[in-house]
Amino acid sequence: MRSDDIEQVAAIEGAVTSAPWTNRQFQQSLEQHQCVVICQRNADDNVVLGYMILASVFDQTELLNIAIDPQHQGHGLGSQMLNSGLQSLADRIESVLLEVRVSNYAAIRLYLNYGFIEVGRRRDYYKTTFGREDAILMTLQRTAVKTGN
Ligand SMILES: CC(C)(COP(=O)(O)OP(=O)(O)OC[C@H]1O[C@@H](n2cnc3c(N)ncnc32)[C@H](O)[C@@H]1OP(=O)(O)O)[C@@H](O)C(=O)NCCC(=O)NCCS
Repeated sequence: MRSDDIEQVAAIEGAVTSAPWTNRQFQQSLEQHQCVVICQRNADDNVVLGYMILASVFDQTELLNIAIDPQHQGHGLGSQMLNSGLQSLADRIESVLLEVRVSNYAAIRLYLNYGFIEVGRRRDYYKTTFGREDAILMTLQRTAVKTGN
């Protein structure tokens, strides 16, 4: 991800979540974390189809954000981006942690497919239109990162 991708990244973010990150949060992430985009190259420029933000402290990595443009979901791009992002860090990380809404079946499926396992829940962690919902905590250990499964 580069600074000039942020406008497109923020547009996707606005389309996929009710609590979107701001442009400033993406800019700060760019300075502090590993930020990946998946793009389609057109005649003159790159169209951003999705993005992923990973934060690492020593050998622990947290998946802070991941999304694919709604028009391009369900075609394997999320899996491809997760795989290449984690493979690029494979020699440096011991485990990857993330939180996901219990109702987010697509994301849960993506993570389970990759080898993440549920390790806990945070009760009422997220706001919803109707109240609150739990977060599932998932983790992936180094061996699974290395094999990509
Ligand atoms: C989660 C997300 C990144 C997955 O990206 P994607 O490109 O659609 O995922 P893929 O096409 O690689 O599919 C991954 C798995 O999710 C499943 N999946 C994708 N869209 C789905 C949907 N709408 N409903 C149920 N499952 C779905 C796929 O079937 C696939 O599993 P399978 O191979 O066992 O069939 C994407 O749905 C997204 O951007 N969601 C909104 C943002 C979000 O929720 N981010 C996660 C926050 S924790």
